[in-house]
Amino acid sequence: MASLLIHNAAQIATSIGRYRRGAEMNQLRLLRNASIYVQDGIIRAIGSASDVEKAISDSPEVIDASGSAVIAGLVDSHTHLVFAGTREQEFAMRVAGATYQDIAKQGGGILSTVKATRNATKEELKCVAKRYLALALEHGTTTMEIKTGYGLDEETELKLLDVIAELDAEQPITLAPTFLGAHAVPPERSKAEYLESLFALLPRAAQKARFIDAFVEENYFSAEEAEALCERAKRFGLLPRLHVHQFTANAGVKMGLRVGAASLDHLEKISDEDIGLLARSETVATLLPCVSLFLGYGYPPARKLIDSGAIVAIASNFNPGSAMTLNMQLTMFVASAQMRLSLAESLTAATLNAAYSLRLSDKIGSIEVGKEADLVILDVPSYEQAIYFFGVNHAKTVIKKGVVEWTR
Ligand code: NIG
Repeated sequence: MASLLIHNAAQIATSIGRYRRGAEMNQLRLLRNASIYVQDGIIRAIGSASDVEKAISDSPEVIDASGSAVIAGLVDSHTHLVFAGTREQEFAMRVAGATYQDIAKQGGGILSTVKATRNATKEELKCVAKRYLALALEHGTTTMEIKTGYGLDEETELKLLDVIAELDAEQPITLAPTFLGAHAVPPERSKAEYLESLFALLPRAAQKARFIDAFVEENYFSAEEAEALCERAKRFGLLPRLHVHQFTANAGVKMGLRVGAASLDHLEKISDEDIGLLARSETVATLLPCVSLFLGYGYPPARKLIDSGAIVAIASNFNPGSAMTLNMQLTMFVASAQMRLSLAESLTAATLNAAYSLRLSDKIGSIEVGKEADLVILDVPSYEQAIYFFGVNHAKTVIKKGVVEWTR
């Protein structure tokens, strides 16, 4: 494999370690006028140009990064990326006053995407998803979690897991697959029947997925139902990460901590008591600022979570109904502008802590010697400017495992 020298970056900005919690999220390692040497996809040296040159043992391809900041590849740890169709009519209805729940009651929402997804072939789903992944890569995402949940029957859920596996092999972004059969109850089945079918599907789903998820919410799944599913799924090696407290306060956080969830996601309606419990755990609080922006229903208490010591990640929640964006730069901006994460906290949340929630932070999520070289070279001299100057793409070159996968 070729080697690479990223020469003389104006700034290298990164968190370090396995994860950062509470006040540590604000502490970045910042280097000025520094270089990075990569060999066989692994970061071998970081430091001043002269120090890094001493570590070079071959003739690397050189990228002049003067005037640019370099950050770790962005990690989008909560998406629903494989689906057919779009739902801009629902967006227009919401702009006119309807709520997400009103639309779901009228047969729209998740079930309308389920209909479109069931009608699509595997090739059609792959083709659409590949375009979305290419867009995410251009915006600096190098690792992404993808949930199923728009099949809601055995055949389509497994098809979605196969699509994710094939896409993982066919394009540069590393994909972490999550089985979200418990996203909604399909119209043709009772909840009891559907839950039974999900239990029966677990052994096969576990061969293709890494995580198990459930939408714990009024009119979807109760904490008890999700707990039974998670406990069973764990026997097949699936690790829970769950949708909890999105529209209503519920028992999701306490249950999620009981089942040892890697991540509890959404948390818009989390109570102070649950903030305390989550903050003392090793479970990541994954916040989704773009869904709050998109649905206009208020933001999760990010400051309280961080100030209480939680491990906070942020993700796009890319999906057609509540967050039609896969732009992690925008996600960092909204996290800072609306949830009051410091710019350093937003970067930590979108890289290292998100990687930790996927159990990948031993390999990715920060710029450290020995980690994989997933890097984004920005068109601005500081990561702060990239977050603050919002709404445009600041990725200039995106590197995955030491290979330039996208550049402009
Ligand atoms: O995370 N809440 C559940 N799932 C998505 C919405 C999915 C959809 O509306 O299609 C979310 O917001």
